Amino acid sequence: EYRFPAHHRLRFPKASRRLPQAIIIGVRKCGTRALLEMLFLHPRIQKAAGEVHFFDRDDNYSRGLDWYRRRMPQSFSGQITIEKSPSYFVTPEVPERIYAMNSSIKLLLIVREPVTRAISDYTQLRANAATAPSSGPPKSFEQLALHADGSVNAFYRPIAVSVYHWYIHRWLEVFSRQQLLIVNGDRLIEDPVSELQRIEQFLELEPKISRSNFYFNQTKGFYCLRNETTDKCLRESKGRKHPRVNPAVINKLRQFFSEHNQKFYELIGEDLGWPD
Ligand code: A3P
Repeated sequence: EYRFPAHHRLRFPKASRRLPQAIIIGVRKCGTRALLEMLFLHPRIQKAAGEVHFFDRDDNYSRGLDWYRRRMPQSFSGQITIEKSPSYFVTPEVPERIYAMNSSIKLLLIVREPVTRAISDYTQLRANAATAPSSGPPKSFEQLALHADGSVNAFYRPIAVSVYHWYIHRWLEVFSRQQLLIVNGDRLIEDPVSELQRIEQFLELEPKISRSNFYFNQTKGFYCLRNETTDKCLRESKGRKHPRVNPAVINKLRQFFSEHNQKFYELIGEDLGWPD
């Protein structure tokens, strides 16, 4: 094999697989996929395919950081690699594991108004159950979210995951507040550009994402994305129609979440203004 002397080699920018410098840690059903795809509009962002689940699954975590790195996309130096695995947020071991990999990593947490998130979660679970062997007619959201005596079932998973302060405290015990950006998922739906501009600043990216990257699709009822190389809407499983929920139950849940939301606001030092 003939080898050119080192000084004759042409220098091309070198692509390689790098560990992420930013992670979308959750929350599920708050727009984690939309957020990742929207950030990918930026030329300095590369994204991992799928959900990697390295830090939350012991079988994956035990494979080591090199296994994780090989799940990452090719990137050039100066680019930022991002992955999203929404269950990181609620898994107790994850903050310390991420910190052990990179103590200065940037974390993105996308949240939505908790009752809407719970209904979205229910809608997804029901859609998934519909494809599994039937175990009787599906229960309504109201039946699952409330006990027979009408009190809120805080341990119904879609409700529990919306109690954000139960999980955020662990992250703030490990990471500094400045390393964590809280993304408003309801605003990402209505006005993606304003939210993405905050994120570009947080990630120290030059402002590149603008109105021209989005167009509203009436049929889907959501914004779709485009740039020089892509033009796409998110899949049908993103932006499902939610079942109608009894307004009295919505009110009861809003009351239930009111104090939990206050605790969350106190921990993050931000008031997201959710109704109660
Ligand atoms: P719904 O399907 O309940 O409306 P995740 O990717 O974390 O599972 O979040 C899914 C949610 O992303 C959807 O919940 C939807 O509301 C939200 N979303 C935000 N922007 C969107 C977009 N442009 N297209 C589709 N869904 C979007």
